Amino acid sequence: MNGKHTRSIWLEPDGWSVGIIDQTLLPHRFATLRLASLGDAAHAIKSMQLRGAPLIGAAAAYGLCLALREDASDESLERAYAVLLDTRPTAINLKWALDEMMAVVRNRPRDERVAAAYRRAAEICDEDVAINQAIGRHGLKLIEDIAREKKPGEPVNVLTHCNAGWLATVDWGTATAAIYMAHDAGIKLHVFVDETRPRSQGALTAWELGQHGVPHTYVPDNTGGHLMQHRMVDIAIVGTDRVTARGDVCNKIGTYLKALAAKDNGVPFYVGLPSPTIDFTVSDGLAEIPIEQRAGDEVATVTGKAADGRIETVRVVPDGSAVANYGFDVTPARLVTGLITERGVIPATRDGLAKAFPERARGGR
Ligand code: MRU
Repeated sequence: MNGKHTRSIWLEPDGWSVGIIDQTLLPHRFATLRLASLGDAAHAIKSMQLRGAPLIGAAAAYGLCLALREDASDESLERAYAVLLDTRPTAINLKWALDEMMAVVRNRPRDERVAAAYRRAAEICDEDVAINQAIGRHGLKLIEDIAREKKPGEPVNVLTHCNAGWLATVDWGTATAAIYMAHDAGIKLHVFVDETRPRSQGALTAWELGQHGVPHTYVPDNTGGHLMQHRMVDIAIVGTDRVTARGDVCNKIGTYLKALAAKDNGVPFYVGLPSPTIDFTVSDGLAEIPIEQRAGDEVATVTGKAADGRIETVRVVPDGSAVANYGFDVTPARLVTGLITERGVIPATRDGLAKAFPERARGGR
């Protein structure tokens, strides 16, 4: 950011409180927040001061640390687990991270719990960074293959939905890691960024790409089909909040429509995901993944920067009209060209996932 490398979550110099970027203010204002209690962490996740499946997991891990710091008893641990798990229902990384934390903390004496928890939370963050770098390296090969077919000077056109960038992870992003690596390698590329109403996470992606100097165009959500019909998209890469054992992909609302348009137009549709996003306990994404429904106000209003620089929220829906705010949808595995994981690009099938992650598939988690 501004030429300086920044993670989306960090331990403050006091060595115990947690720093995050307040994503509700981006892209118009950059401000950080300090989380100093379980309540702070739960609020930050629920109110989407931080968001994105892997970052939600990392923040929940630190939320458990903050709770244990105040009270390392079994009761406190169980309560913190329940409070954090209740913040958002769809991204499985939340439960994955909480279970990882429980596994290292639960059977320890109380006086060892806090240190062990902070160690594991830091590891979860570092692992996320390493995983995303690996996803980026595998995704880069896909972009390189397309670039080789291009005429000199022609960019590779990527379409992405929502924000699966470094803001949504600890660093690099899942969908964006390959984009950043391709750009850094000198490949000419251009990204179509879906707005992603109602919360416009596309503005976060546009902000990230702008900070990194990646050419991009912000488009209203309904534009993707038109772009694909006119051969203006070479590859779609999105992130995900949960992938089932058979390869169904749950991601931000609107992803499914992009996958349908991609299929109809022969555009490869890839999903970048770290293995903690795989939920081997579910198979049929439509039937089994809980879809978050958020407040109607997010749909009925838009927030942005006024001409005088003030951040303002205005209503765009007639008073009295009902609104619906489904946060996510499920893209069936048959529409997914491939899953870009830290272990390579794999088919979105039961067999593909089980072969790539046998230890997780066997354990059913
Ligand atoms: O509601 P959000 O903003 O948390 O949803 C984020 C997404 O849907 C991302 O695409 C997904 O979490 C992948 S992040 C690497």
